[in-house]
Amino acid sequence: MRVVIHSTAEVASLAAADLISQKVRHRPRCVLGLATGSTPLAVYRELGRLHREEGLDFSQVTTFNLDEYVGLPGTHPQSYRYFMEENLFKHINVRPERTHVPDGRALDFDRHCESYERQISQAGGIDLQLLGIGTDGHIAFNEPGSSLGSRTRIKTLAGQTIRDNARFFGGEDQVPRMAVTMGVGTILDSRQCLLLAIGEHKAKAIRETVEGPVTAQVTASALQLHRDVVVVLDEAAAGLLERREYYDQVERVRREMEQAQLERGST
Ligand code: PGA
Repeated sequence: MRVVIHSTAEVASLAAADLISQKVRHRPRCVLGLATGSTPLAVYRELGRLHREEGLDFSQVTTFNLDEYVGLPGTHPQSYRYFMEENLFKHINVRPERTHVPDGRALDFDRHCESYERQISQAGGIDLQLLGIGTDGHIAFNEPGSSLGSRTRIKTLAGQTIRDNARFFGGEDQVPRMAVTMGVGTILDSRQCLLLAIGEHKAKAIRETVEGPVTAQVTASALQLHRDVVVVLDEAAAGLLERREYYDQVERVRREMEQAQLERGST
């Protein structure tokens, strides 16, 4: 796991957007895994700006979102399809037929989940999966106790997640109780994962994810088994990490090596 700590939420978000935009530039036909929630908002704003002002081209990109609330149509302002349209898709030139968000109103969820997995495989698999993290350590809606081998399926939301998301719905009783979500196994199949966490309220989940044991009680900790994960944090989310000094040292050495390579290249 590469752990990169930035001074502020804004710098961390720009760094995450930079990793995504580099992927799109180097591989215009890439498959991006996308996330919703408060965390990626500034990332999506920056991707919109890069498209508008610097011509970042999403015309050949395919996207798959992590999850969707069961029962909400894509036109519902709290649905994740709506979130994606409003916060990203309408600001870039991605082709609508290449964007995928699980259908919260599928008639047969088993078939829908199987078909979602099949669509990901047929697209060639996810090149870069953007992830947020819940205060209970979940990735997507893989709540504590989810199988670390799980695939796309229906999950019942944990009480903590319902409380955390109540602010968007105007009360806990308005929050849907279930979601369709990629599984931990689905996420681990992505070629690269980018976990972004902002704020002190994420610090405990981040410490458990990065420095704790791999456990289904903190599903993000399964990322320790993945060979290419970048964890991008602001200072507040990094606040409880014990090996902080080492992570900074790794980044310093990395920058020095990049610089040396650049200098060798220019002589
Ligand atoms: P947040 O949600 O970005 O709104 O904090 C993250 C998550 O629950 O995965």
